[in-house]
Amino acid sequence: MSTSITRECLDDHPRPAQVVPSGGRPRILSGVQSSGKLHIGNYFGAIKQHIERQDSGDCFYFIADYHALTSLKEAEEKEAGLAAKNKSITPRPARQILADNVRDAALDYLALGLDPAKAAFYRQSDVPEVCELAWILSNVCGMGLLERAHSYKDKTAKGITPNVGLFTYPVLMAADILIVRSHLVPVGRDQEQHLEMTRDIAGSFNHQYGEVFPLPDAVFNEAAVVPGTDGQKMSKSYGNTIDIFAEGKALKNAVMGIVTDSTPVDQPKNPDTCNAFALYKLFATPAEQAEMADLYRNPMKGAELRGGRPFGYGDAKTLLLAKIDGYFAAARERRKQLARDPGFVEEVLAAGARRTRSVAQVTLQLVRQAVGLHARPV
Ligand code: TRP
Repeated sequence: MSTSITRECLDDHPRPAQVVPSGGRPRILSGVQSSGKLHIGNYFGAIKQHIERQDSGDCFYFIADYHALTSLKEAEEKEAGLAAKNKSITPRPARQILADNVRDAALDYLALGLDPAKAAFYRQSDVPEVCELAWILSNVCGMGLLERAHSYKDKTAKGITPNVGLFTYPVLMAADILIVRSHLVPVGRDQEQHLEMTRDIAGSFNHQYGEVFPLPDAVFNEAAVVPGTDGQKMSKSYGNTIDIFAEGKALKNAVMGIVTDSTPVDQPKNPDTCNAFALYKLFATPAEQAEMADLYRNPMKGAELRGGRPFGYGDAKTLLLAKIDGYFAAARERRKQLARDPGFVEEVLAAGARRTRSVAQVTLQLVRQAVGLHARPV
């Protein structure tokens, strides 16, 4: 996370439109859906892998704002509901929520080390070729395939009245991936079915019109399970998160609020069943982990260094707090710095879109030709 981002990184870096590189660099693509503050579960579950991969292929990372439209009305209603109960919240109209979320996601990723000189980083809606491809792909995608989508079924089961966009969400996602003829798609397990659908759609297209698309492989983030402060999986919907960009009192309160059991402080404790320890493991070296595990089991060890007190959960949380604070300190500073220059974020996204469109336009030419659509007049 030591990347320094400068305007010089923003050259377009044109890359040749390539067929699958044999032994060469794969194209890697992933989409980010931003729906508010990122937490350390998001970081270890996805963002970290995205950033690490920028050195192992030609990366395309985008903020999925077209996709966000499928559930923006719910987001707006939710915020209006919260504002009705809490007078300190001013509800934002949907268009503001959308713009804020895009900007937040861009700042988050850039602050955490996404390097625009390495990866094309763009806003999905700045690459409108995606929509044209989605329309063409929707004609090689059976209704039944979409009707089986878990994400769609889950949302409608919750009582959401679906719009057509929500139903065809997987086709748009296939278009995101196929527009750059991506080889690898790093995603969480929750996206497994969407990736299968993409392969299905690509396969149908290739079968009907000739080989245009490589079949993309999902790469699942081997994420450590990140427990939330209550021990369940960390998730915004459980209200058990520790936010990446939290600092000071807010960070301290979140960490000190981690639920632990009621073993008396001077008794041996089990690190393997403790949330604070599970979180500590994400940040600490193996030696530090072993040291803390030892203190859990032998709480009187080194008591003289603590004024004679045994090592308790409070001590573990204090060490964890220092780790989290230190780990994200540079990113937090960078985020503040980037936020002061809104023009910079826009320049990054515009450069990313230009780079992506140069690949997307070649794909569309191949697709239009294969399908028998007229070559677009220039
Ligand atoms: N559906 C993904 C999510 O909810 C976001 C996404 C949109 C995506 N298009 C994509 C992910 C293409 C990978 C590739 O997280």
